[in-house]
Amino acid sequence: MGPRVSEALVTATSFETTRDHFAAHDQEHVFRFWDELDAAGRDRLLAQAAAIDLERLLPAARTAIDTLREAKAPELAPPDDVLELPEHGGDPGGWKAATERGRELLAAGRVGVMVVAGGQGTRLGFEGPKGAFPVGPLSSRTLFALQAEKIRGLRRRGGVAVPWYVMTSPATDAATREIFAREKQFGLPESDVFLFSQDTTPALDFEGRLLLEQRDRIFESPNGHGGAITALAASGALDDMERRGIDTLFYYQVDNPLAPIGDAAFWGHHDRTGAEVSCKVGRKTDPMAKWGLLARCDGRTGVVEYTEISDEHRYATDAAGELVYWAGNLAIHVFATDFLRRMAADADARLPYHASAKKIPYVDRQGHPVAPSEPNGYKLERFVFDALPAANRVSLVEARLPDEFSPIKNAEGVESPETARRDLQAVTRRWLTEAGLELPAPDCGVELDHSRIDGPEEAASFRSLTEAGDVIRTAPGATA
Ligand code: UD1
Repeated sequence: MGPRVSEALVTATSFETTRDHFAAHDQEHVFRFWDELDAAGRDRLLAQAAAIDLERLLPAARTAIDTLREAKAPELAPPDDVLELPEHGGDPGGWKAATERGRELLAAGRVGVMVVAGGQGTRLGFEGPKGAFPVGPLSSRTLFALQAEKIRGLRRRGGVAVPWYVMTSPATDAATREIFAREKQFGLPESDVFLFSQDTTPALDFEGRLLLEQRDRIFESPNGHGGAITALAASGALDDMERRGIDTLFYYQVDNPLAPIGDAAFWGHHDRTGAEVSCKVGRKTDPMAKWGLLARCDGRTGVVEYTEISDEHRYATDAAGELVYWAGNLAIHVFATDFLRRMAADADARLPYHASAKKIPYVDRQGHPVAPSEPNGYKLERFVFDALPAANRVSLVEARLPDEFSPIKNAEGVESPETARRDLQAVTRRWLTEAGLELPAPDCGVELDHSRIDGPEEAASFRSLTEAGDVIRTAPGATA
């Protein structure tokens, strides 16, 4: 047996290599406190630093920052080929055919569901993963619980397994796993719930240097929902889909309790049109709404963020006074799984980073924590919709609003728990009325078990509220 190399020596050797490497990129300062760190702190910092690929990160960040500064607007044209709602002139026959095809796909076990749930409830003033936010107007059931009900309903309707792929982030992963275990996967079989975490990306200060969040930690933040594409591949989720014969993935964001998870017409239209990506679009009536827009960008269908659209385009109206760029991005998509695989393999080229100036906590030269009051650096994120221009075909389907979209982003005011609960109850009341079920009062509080009722047709399978029992709960007085 040769001489045993002590662990301390291994650390020392790889420290020197890593530090030299970082020095060559003008990033040596991350080791500023090395001499003061204990062994555990050194190991942590070294492992983190060694995992950062500076050769890829720094040029990608530079491009992102240049793009932000230049803000070059793409050549825009209105979106074409949207399957509009019948009440807005869309072809009812197209909707019927799409629904039928969607039901066939579901019954053939080709549909999976994925949610991006990497965000924390910080803006909401809520500790923990956003998916644990209580949204049920009467029951306080959480976003996750409500969405799981919809998936259970989908399984029942299709008579098949519909796996749920839940993307967390390092900030929410442990807590999310704990919640799913505690809630017994919200009534779904354990084998049909696939939790996986997105990756993180280091931030840079305005001089292009990494920030130290603690003496032994470089600041990193979730790499954006575009990180879903690489994480689906790296986690084995795409392999899992392949084994199951799933080729159609419904995608939504955890903060939207009205996400149309059971919408067969959406993935049916996707399949009928041979699309690789489909997007639900919302008719924008307020030019200032904070929605990205689906449009033809440099000749391909893509999303222009609300921050990047010029006033000329933002306010453009047609002869009827309607907004020309009306197709808001609701972050509800369908992806062909082989397209996702292709994108994951080519992520560096297809999914650029976007830089945004943020307040990033750091430690000063003396090692004291600082919570800056002004932006002091750039966070870097990938956006899932940047994949769109690479798709052979993108299909757009108009969503009924607010029935399919009422996200919880703020603690109060627009896009808040209050508006989401109001919209959730409004659509519920409408379904029940359409089904001929009479409520105790027109504005009473109401909540459904979405595994049993997720539309007016299913509501009509009950003859009365008494017969529905716990499936339809009501309470006197509006509760939004
Ligand atoms: C987003 C869209 C915008 C769209 C709007 C609709 C972007 C850049 N813009 O804006 O085009 O019109 O929604 O409301 O997305 N998430 C992760 N990991 C991350 C980042 C986000 O899982 O690293 C998840 C969050 O949990 C959240 C969702 O993605 O559910 C949306 O993120 P958010 O930052 O709220 O996007 P918006 O700025 O509202």
